[in-house]
Amino acid sequence: MPFGPIEVAVDPRVLVPRPETEQLYEIACDIVDDPMVIVDLCTGSGNLAIALKHTFPSATVYATDISPDAADLARENARDAGLDVTILGGDLFEPLPHHLRGRIDLIVSNPPYLAVAELADLPIDVRDHEPTVALVAGPVGDEVLARIAEAAPEWLRPGGVVVCEISEFHGPAVAGHFVSVDGEIKQDLFGKERFVIGAARQ
Ligand SMILES: C[S@@+](CC[C@H](N)C(=O)[O-])C[C@H]1O[C@@H](n2cnc3c(N)ncnc32)[C@H](O)[C@@H]1O
Repeated sequence: MPFGPIEVAVDPRVLVPRPETEQLYEIACDIVDDPMVIVDLCTGSGNLAIALKHTFPSATVYATDISPDAADLARENARDAGLDVTILGGDLFEPLPHHLRGRIDLIVSNPPYLAVAELADLPIDVRDHEPTVALVAGPVGDEVLARIAEAAPEWLRPGGVVVCEISEFHGPAVAGHFVSVDGEIKQDLFGKERFVIGAARQ
């Protein structure tokens, strides 16, 4: 399927990329200038990481996913795109090389952000055909975003940027999590609060 400037294969190992995530990709492209190091957390099919490598070919791009099956598919998609993206299995920042601490220009993520109770309300084709680990973050839904916000300042270079997709119902809570990077909430094309953008203090 198309995602921004690239094609990715999707199957039951991963979430099918959504239109709002293409907007996340566009926001990220608009706010960085010639990034050297890009990290995509919770990469799924690799859509964001591969599209960003296509757009910024001189950047070193890393992506992580806790699901070994998703990481496998992301590697296949990067290989099929002919783009050099390092896909690592593991929890958020944990698999990244330590020398990246304080050196990342851009962190992007479309993490799981549903609450456990929201799973029952999803359309059957989403609930039964997309991995639960791709959808549900915990009892509240903003747990993975809170962890990204907590760790981002130590991984970003001064002035480095973090952009994440969020639930439309979590804007104020997520802004609170991202206060250490002066997080701002941004609306999608329909006026819903769907992104947080922050920058590491200089
Ligand atoms: C909402 S999907 C997004 C996939 C893809 N980035 C996209 O935009 O379509 C979230 C992904 O995060 C992964 N994931 C969930 N918890 C994680 C964690 N703690 N660390 C890394 N990846 C995680 C899931 O396996 C899933 O592939």
